[in-house]
Amino acid sequence: MKTNKKSVPRIRSYKANGANPPIAMVTAYDAPSSHMASAAGVDIILVGDSLAMVVLGYDDTLSVSISDMAYHTMAVSRPKPDPLVVTDMPWMSYHTGVRDAVNNAAQLIRAGAEAVKLEGGANRVDVIKALVDAEIPVMGHLGLTPQSVHTFGGFSVQAKTREAAKMLLDDALAIEEAGVFSVVLEAVPDVVAAKATELLKVPTIGIGAGPHCDGQVLVFHDLLGLAFGHKPKFVRHYGSLGELGIKGLEGYVHDVKMRNFPSVEEGYQAGQGEFDGFSYERK
Ligand code: KIV
Repeated sequence: MKTNKKSVPRIRSYKANGANPPIAMVTAYDAPSSHMASAAGVDIILVGDSLAMVVLGYDDTLSVSISDMAYHTMAVSRPKPDPLVVTDMPWMSYHTGVRDAVNNAAQLIRAGAEAVKLEGGANRVDVIKALVDAEIPVMGHLGLTPQSVHTFGGFSVQAKTREAAKMLLDDALAIEEAGVFSVVLEAVPDVVAAKATELLKVPTIGIGAGPHCDGQVLVFHDLLGLAFGHKPKFVRHYGSLGELGIKGLEGYVHDVKMRNFPSVEEGYQAGQGEFDGFSYERK
C-alpha cells in the first residue's frame, strides 16, 4: 500500500483545528481528473452524481444510474490515486429497500470505490447501518441534497430557520450514530455548519457551508472553469480550462483550414524506394 494513500480510518478520526488543516475533497469522473486530483494532493475524490450535470449535460442529478456511477468509478480508480475514492449512490439506488442498497453499493465497491455517499438523515439510518454492517463505509450528505430537487422545488439554501437547523442537527447526529465516517453539508448557513462541526465527532465537509467545516468540497468542472452553465455563489474559480480549451481548439481549426497541420514531421514516411512506380486503379 502506498504511504500517501488516504483511508477511511484516517478520514474518520480527522477534525480540523489549529494543527490540522481542513480536508480537501474534489469530484472526478475519469482517469485524467483522477490523476490531476492525486498529483495536486487532494485528500478525497468524490465520483459525484453531479456527473449527470457537468459531464452528461442533464439539468439535475436524477438521470444517472448505478451502472453509470460504476463505469465512471472504474475510470477514476484505474490510475490508483492517493486520495480516498468515494462514489455517490445515485437516486433510486438506495430508496427501494436495504437489500437493494447493499447490492448496489457492492457494485460501486467492486468498481473501485472505497466508500459510498448517500443523501438524507434519520430516514436513511436503516440503510446506513446495513451498509456499514456489510463493511461498506458511508459518507452522509445533508442540507441541499440535489436528489431532493423536486421536493425542495429547486436548488435552494436549506436550514435557514431555527426549526430547520434543529432538524438538520438531529439528522447529523442520527447518521453519525448509524455509522457514517464523515458528513457533507451543502448550501446551509455557516452558523449551522459550524454547530454541526462542533457537535459531530466525524469530520464535516462543506460546499456552500462556510469556512468552519473540517473540510471543503467543490465540483472539478466548477473550480477549473469547465462548467458552462449557472455558477453557484460558493464556487471559486482556480482555473479557466474552458477558455483555454476553446483557444486551443480555435488554433487547431485555424491550422487545419490553413493547411498548417499536420507538418511532414507529424506524419509517417515510407521506406526509401518502397512506393517507386506504385499505382492502384479503381476497378
Ligand atoms: O455529486 C456531487 O458532486 C456532490 C458534491 C456537490 C458534494 O454530491
